[in-house]
Amino acid sequence: MRGFNSVLFSFLLTTQVVSPAVIRRDNDEGHQGCTSKYVAVFSVDGLHNSDLDRWLALGPSNMSALLESGYRYTNAWTTGPSDSYPGSLAQYTGANPRTTGVWYQYLMSFTVVYDETVDYNSTELFSGGIDPAHLPQAIINGKCTDIYPHMRTRVNTAFEVVVGAGYKTAYTDKHPSYDLMRGPSGKGLSEGYFPEIAAVGPTVEDNIAYDQYHVNAWLDWIDGKDIAKAEGSLGGKVPTLFGGNFQAVSVEQKTSGYKAGSLDFTDELLKAVKFVDASLGLVVQKLKAKGLYADTLIIIASKHGQAPIDPTKYGKIDPKAVTNATGVDVAFQTSDDIALIFLGDHKDTGKAVDGLQVKRTALKIDDIIYGERLIDLGFGDPLKDPAVPDIIVKPVEGIIYTTSTAKIAEHGGLSEDDRHVACLVSSPGLKKNAFGGKVYTTQVAPTILKTLGLDPQSLQGVKAEGTKTLPGFQDE
Ligand SMILES: *[C@@H]1O[C@H](CO)[C@@H](O)[C@H](O)[C@H]1NC(C)=O
Ligand SMILES: *[C@@H]1O[C@H](CO)[C@@H](O)[C@H](O)[C@H]1NC(C)=O
Ligand SMILES: *[C@@H]1O[C@H](CO)[C@@H](O)[C@H](O)[C@H]1NC(C)=O
Repeated sequence: MRGFNSVLFSFLLTTQVVSPAVIRRDNDEGHQGCTSKYVAVFSVDGLHNSDLDRWLALGPSNMSALLESGYRYTNAWTTGPSDSYPGSLAQYTGANPRTTGVWYQYLMSFTVVYDETVDYNSTELFSGGIDPAHLPQAIINGKCTDIYPHMRTRVNTAFEVVVGAGYKTAYTDKHPSYDLMRGPSGKGLSEGYFPEIAAVGPTVEDNIAYDQYHVNAWLDWIDGKDIAKAEGSLGGKVPTLFGGNFQAVSVEQKTSGYKAGSLDFTDELLKAVKFVDASLGLVVQKLKAKGLYADTLIIIASKHGQAPIDPTKYGKIDPKAVTNATGVDVAFQTSDDIALIFLGDHKDTGKAVDGLQVKRTALKIDDIIYGERLIDLGFGDPLKDPAVPDIIVKPVEGIIYTTSTAKIAEHGGLSEDDRHVACLVSSPGLKKNAFGGKVYTTQVAPTILKTLGLDPQSLQGVKAEGTKTLPGFQDE
């Protein structure tokens, strides 16, 4: 086992959040539509750009109404890998895994996965939050310290910038481990609300009922009200930046999905999309009722897609077969729509790749990314950064490295179905427009800050990667 912990913690220690110099412009001086007092960001997990087309084709909806005064980005891509954590962080840090250090749910020690297993009791919807006894520890500044998820992120989040400027923030997602969004300071969320999805049943009704908790939170936040069982408080204020995700579409894509042939939504998936649309309608109604609608920019961007859309492309392969094919000591492997392989010894990379090449057809491998190409493609360098895998195995689209029989689709990979997602922004001051150029969901983060009159460059990830605001929000 290589010296994983020590190297990573030196990262943690060198990336203390510097409190950014924040300049807030006076909103009254902004052109209408260019700046807003509030930003609400919703991830419809799994919703592809093509799903938005399918939905809009079915007739007038709340999403079509939002687009009447909004910008649609038809070629928007999530991070790769497109797992939920890097996908969420992208939208609030402006950065990819090579910069955030967050690739999947695993932690540097490999022994702790930051999912429901860190809760007090993940079989309960209100699981009690993160149990410190389930966290790894490390010596930091001479003290034995519990390592919370937020301490893993190497760059600050938009939530931290907004809180640093004296405003309130709120966020809801599927596990208490979305503590990650607080950013390295741990202070980014005035209020966090994390009902545990692992406690929820499998049907579309179960997942809609789960999402309703998130929706209720947004409606309460627009009232400036704290929610029961949330962590933190808004102090009676409407959060300047708030958001969260919808689960139901993602879950239905994994279980019911699309009709073979036509690729229409199955009834269950359609039900989930309808629910999301109606919920967005409720948020808009509430904003209008509170007189805040004109001052709010609504951003809808999925943190990940789901692959495959076409059920006939689906196939599964035991991830252990991938491990075995390397023929070398694999320290850790995380597998889904891709396999990320961390070797016991970097020197075995060539041998492992040779072994994978031999089994290329059997393992339905599309691409093996390692060495110089891994660096050139922007994934980082495993010799310098312990969070970067030695080898990324990308299967043919539709193949999932899993033993699960319950799923017909997954996310986390590099394919178009994994990454080409729905993305739109809406505010009554915007003139309807569509942008077809390639954009990334990382661009949401600087767009949030710019809209609020805060400096996008106060995000370390934006600086590190040169992330631009979305088209329509760029300086002339
Ligand atoms: C977790 O919650 C479940 C459901 O309420 C309960 O049956 C179980 O005993 C709890 N487990 C622990 C360890 O408290
Ligand atoms: C929009 O959302 C509202 C509130 O949920 C709902 O009543 C309505 O049916 C939705 N659809 C349209 C087309 O407005
Ligand atoms: C992987 O190798 C082990 C040890 O040889 C073997 O027991 C196991 O069946 C293999 N698994 C797969 C899926 O090939």
